[in-house]
Amino acid sequence: MSDLEHLKELIGERKEMAEFLDEALSAVEQSDSLESLERVRVEMLGKKGKVSAIFRGIPSLPPSERPVLGEIANTLRRVLSDEIARKKSVLLAEEEREKLSEAALDVTLPGRRKRLGHKHLLSSVIDEIISIFLTLGYRVEEGPEIELDYYNFEALNQPAYHPARSLQDSFYVKRRDPEKNYPDDVLLRTHTSPVQIRVMESDSPPLYVVSPGKAYRRDEVDATHSAVFHQVEGFAVDRDINMGHLKGTLEVFIKKLFGEKREARFRPHFFPFTEPSAEMDISCFACSGKGCALCKGSGWLEIMGCGMIDPNVFGYVSYDPERFSGFAFGMGVERIAQLKYGIDDMRVFFENDTRFLEQF
Ligand code: DAH
Repeated sequence: MSDLEHLKELIGERKEMAEFLDEALSAVEQSDSLESLERVRVEMLGKKGKVSAIFRGIPSLPPSERPVLGEIANTLRRVLSDEIARKKSVLLAEEEREKLSEAALDVTLPGRRKRLGHKHLLSSVIDEIISIFLTLGYRVEEGPEIELDYYNFEALNQPAYHPARSLQDSFYVKRRDPEKNYPDDVLLRTHTSPVQIRVMESDSPPLYVVSPGKAYRRDEVDATHSAVFHQVEGFAVDRDINMGHLKGTLEVFIKKLFGEKREARFRPHFFPFTEPSAEMDISCFACSGKGCALCKGSGWLEIMGCGMIDPNVFGYVSYDPERFSGFAFGMGVERIAQLKYGIDDMRVFFENDTRFLEQF
């Protein structure tokens, strides 16, 4: 006979006791969580619980009743503890099953694709330009983007009063007098040319150097202007360097970058730090020289500035212009990328729209 059957027999006709047993058993059965089951346990079997109250009532019963009631109370306590323990293990098992199903792995679901990042188009174009010059024996040097007026202008043969300064609207960081320029004024470099001075100051010829980096100008942003842009500077200083070396070097470079069919031409120009100065054009890709919208009818596309390093610049770094000569050039990376990939608006480089970036 089970404890419960035995208990029912003991209870017999005691109506209140029978009702209490039914209520207690159904309270246990209906508990739907470990917390509510614990509440039922305390209510029934706790120190102030109902079963304890039965025990406490025994001494005040007639002596003949006491032994039966004692046995009922003891059996009741055992039955309820057993039921609670059984229910507890059922609830624990349910909880465990729920946890497992939450963490379940559905191996039939399609996987999540990781989107791979890659180099920005401008970085790839810079890498390409640099690697061509590396094969020609050049080395890479970088300079600071926050630069002294001295390196950005003065030592590049653009002293304070020089009219060419007004061509370049600069972002000043520190300026002694907004009306005048001083060599210790601090600005965001307006071009990569100051790296020439920094390298020449610390090293001696022969020098064959390229220098990629950012430059800053106070330009309104539109399809062809950006306040931040990229340049690659290059220069060579050695004995007996002449304009033929400059033209030969840049022609090789252009054919490697844009293909063997591209022709180069040099037009006289002015830069304060080169004498003579030139701009180099390449034959238009779109029309191969016949004239079209891209080249504005001229058949040529302007691609970079260059020239022979002005002897005055050598003066600033104490090189003897009788012993050494050199050439220099500087190109805009955005313009080269635009021409090479047929991109008509410069803003796409900086908007970081992945639909554009992914194409390269
Ligand atoms: N620094 C010039 C600019 O930003 C580009 C340039 C022209 C660089 C001629 C040179 C050079 O080194 O020789 O427009």
